[in-house]
Amino acid sequence: MAKELGVPVVRVGFKTFPDGESYIRFLDQVRGEDVALIQSTHPPQDTNLLRLLLMASTAKRLGARSVIAVVPYLAYARQDKEFLKGEAVSIDVVIRLIEASGVDELITFDIHSEDILERFSIPAKSISAVPALAEHVKSMGLSGALSVAPDEGAIGLAKIASGILGGGWSWMRKERDRVTGEIRMWLEEVDASGRDVAVFDDMVSTGGTMARAVSLLKSSGARRVVCACTHPLLVGDALSRILGAGCEALVGTDCVPSPVSVVSVSGLIAEELRRLC
Ligand code: R5P
Repeated sequence: MAKELGVPVVRVGFKTFPDGESYIRFLDQVRGEDVALIQSTHPPQDTNLLRLLLMASTAKRLGARSVIAVVPYLAYARQDKEFLKGEAVSIDVVIRLIEASGVDELITFDIHSEDILERFSIPAKSISAVPALAEHVKSMGLSGALSVAPDEGAIGLAKIASGILGGGWSWMRKERDRVTGEIRMWLEEVDASGRDVAVFDDMVSTGGTMARAVSLLKSSGARRVVCACTHPLLVGDALSRILGAGCEALVGTDCVPSPVSVVSVSGLIAEELRRLC
């Protein structure tokens, strides 16, 4: 990104103390500069989040003119409500921490729910990586495929993808048991018989959602099924669950580094930073 923007890279040293505490140190000057901190908060979420907070507050203390936090994957966004009485609304706490650390502006990708952006009191923007994912899927010979959202929350993503794949869009219904985490899904009006299908979601965590979506689509007669997500967290055996259900390939971005992160968002970040600064 720095190369693309023609700006210097500021080196930051990280280490973890023997007791597990995080340490950071800026090795180059930031005084008077507009600083973009590129720090995703994928697992280990808490460590990466703390690194972001330590870097932002240190950049400000060292005299940075402004700090833009580029957080390709924003952790805790799924806990955006008190689903069960007494639960923390974790994303609200994370937002307050980011703001208190001195961040002036935040950029993220395909945030779990757009209304989270309105809870920030600093400018906050979510860029979609779905056009880039859909272009990749298209290059796999899936032009004309049906774009499917595995749940209601992903409908927006399927609509964006269908603009590129050109085969229309549809969605599945999903219910999650808030205590056991177990999911139930239905095809509803998805007619996948004889069609190539691409399933788009913001993230894959345990792979339960995608694996269930794939097996429902396959058993209803879908031909090729490809899955795509912006944030491939891929916890445990998520990838083999999805492939084992009949998915041809899972395509992800480098918002979360993983074996399926074949689409890079660095160009999109550079474009946004160029616009901002
Ligand atoms: C939930 O609403 C998200 O959009 C994803 O569908 C979900 O987090 C994926 O989780 P998992 O891979 O564990 O089913």
